[in-house]
Formats: sequence, structure tokens, C-alpha cells
Amino acid sequence: MKHRLLQYLTCPSCGDAIKLSNVTKSDGSEILEGELRCESSAHSFAIERGIPRFARLGEVEQDKAATAASFGWEWRHFTHGDELYADQLLGWLHPVKPEFFRDKVVLEGGCGKGRHTQLAARWGARDVIGIDLSEAVETAFTATRNLENAHIIQADIYRLPFARIFDYAFSVGVLHHLPDPRAGFRGLSQKVKPGGHISAWVYGAENNEWITRWINPLRERLTSRINPRALLHLSALPTAVMYAATKLVYGPLNRSASGARLASHLFYNDYLNAISVFGWREQHSIVFDHLVAPTAFYISRAEFEEWWREIKASDVQISWHNKNSWRGFGQVN
Ligand SMILES: C[S@@+](CC[C@H](N)C(=O)[O-])C[C@H]1O[C@@H](n2cnc3c(N)ncnc32)[C@H](O)[C@@H]1O
Repeated sequence: MKHRLLQYLTCPSCGDAIKLSNVTKSDGSEILEGELRCESSAHSFAIERGIPRFARLGEVEQDKAATAASFGWEWRHFTHGDELYADQLLGWLHPVKPEFFRDKVVLEGGCGKGRHTQLAARWGARDVIGIDLSEAVETAFTATRNLENAHIIQADIYRLPFARIFDYAFSVGVLHHLPDPRAGFRGLSQKVKPGGHISAWVYGAENNEWITRWINPLRERLTSRINPRALLHLSALPTAVMYAATKLVYGPLNRSASGARLASHLFYNDYLNAISVFGWREQHSIVFDHLVAPTAFYISRAEFEEWWREIKASDVQISWHNKNSWRGFGQVN
């Protein structure tokens, strides 16, 4: 934890400012072990392995803990980086561009292995804080600790240790895994300053009936319950099918004008073409990610629009991404 993170923290229990009460191990400007306390001293939070711990899996509700445990394993295993993540993130955050981050104080809700916190820091955010409930924070911390303006916190998105201080908050692929996605979105928006902005990307209900009908029962009853290592091996099989299809059919066809016309009639073409650029490891991580989560909601456009109306956002831009998901961007008032 870097000292400059302190200016942004407030106690999630009482709302007081947070101060550093004890440091037992540090490495240069990084506090590795120590303790944070609120001004009233009523609440304390450990700093362990460089990460402030505002939530622990053993202390949150069972459904949240189960989701976080699954993703924690995923992001401790799939720790790789990929230069294609930048374009992928910009696809999810449309119409946001890298320049938008410049000099902003940014919050990422559910940062996973930290790949997007890292990009936001590199794109010039004044400071970016990635929060996640799971053990993924360990990977995220390693990925971002050399960036002066990047910070990782273990926290529950429903109980964030901040006042309304952010210029921009974004959340990619997280809200639909929460027990109450809309409440998670509302909570995130409440940390954005009036006049600031928020982006969210969620699975769509539309065009995903094949998932909700056939894959979801399998995920709920089997794949999210088995040992993650067993799922890792099991998920190699559907990955092999997807990898062959994207590398041999979807990718090549979509790259030629005449082929693209034909490909537009293929099953799930937009999405499979989009991921055809990724190698085996990333595709394996995508398949694993879809099968591991105990909770996953598929959100309709009407419902997503309702989230934005509820927070009274203005200049909202909602768009259909890869014909299987919704992305939204708007101003918080
Ligand atoms: C599919 S991953 C996406 C991670 C990251 N946004 C990315 O795209 O690489 C979902 C993440 O949400 C996190 N998460 C789930 N429930 C959460 C909660 N209640 N509070 C904070 N993070 C949560 C998980 O631990 C996981 O890292």
C-alpha cells in the first residue's frame, strides 16, 4: 500500500477518515504489513502483503464468499498478461478512450487480476484504485505494485471504504456475478462525484438464450461446484472446440470481405470473431470464467436502462457489444 492511498479512504463502518496506525514491514514507499484505523479508533483494518483488507471472505455472506472463492482461484491461476487487453477493455468501456483517464481519480469495481487497473494507471489516471473481494487481489497487487498511481484493496463492492470522491468508476464483468447486480451498480455510482462518470459492462439476456437454457443449469449444478483444478482440466475440452473454430473458421472468414458476409450467418459470429485473436491460454481462461461462477445473471436491455434511470445518470450511452452483452456510460449527477 502506498501512502498516497490514505487520502482516499474512509471507514466503511462509520465513515470517518482512515489513518495509518502501525507499520511492521515496508519496502521503500510500499507498506507491506501494518494496520489502518478510523479517526475514532473504533474500527481497524489490517494491511497484509501490501494490501489493505476491508473485507475477508470468512466475514461476508455465503453467496458472495462462494463467488469470490471461485474467481480468486481463477485469477491466482490465470495470471498472464496480454497486449490485446487494452483494445478489449476499450471495447467494453466504449465510448471511453485512453485520454479520458488522464488526471482522473478512478475506481475499478471488481479488478480481478488487475489487468484493467494497470491499464488505467498507464493511461494517466491521477490515481486508480482497484477493489476486489477475492484472493485475486494478490495477483492484482503484483501486477500493479510498480505503478505509483495504482492501488489495490480487498473490499466488498457493497461496502466500499470511500466517500463520493471519484471522477470515474468502471466495472467490467462483475455486476452480473453479484447477488443483487443493480444494488452493486447503485453502490458504485454513489462513490462518483456529481459530474463524474461511470461505465459498466454486463452479460446480455438477448441472444444468450442458448447459455441461459443449456449452459446455466450445467454451471449451477456441476461446474461451479467441482474442484477448480478439476474444472480447469474439464474446461480444456470446450476450449479446444472453441479454439479450433475461432482459429480455423471465424477468424479467417471474418478477415476477408467475401468471407465476412458468409461468417455473419454463423452462430455467435460477432463474439467468436472478437475472441479469435486470443491465444489458447486466454481462451481457456474465458471458458473457465464462464463455468466457474456460482452466480451469473443475464441482463436485458430494458433492465439495464432501468439501472441508469434509477441513478438519474445523464447523457447515457448504452450499446450492444458483440451482440451478446450491454455496455453503458453516463454522467452521475
Ligand atoms: C469475471 S471477474 C472480472 C474481473 C475483472 N473485472 C476483469 O475483467 O478482468 C469478476 C470479479 O468480481 C469479483 N467480485 C465478485 N463479487 C464481488 C464483490 N462482492 N465485491 C468485489 N468484487 C467482487 C470477483 O472476485 C472477480 O475477480
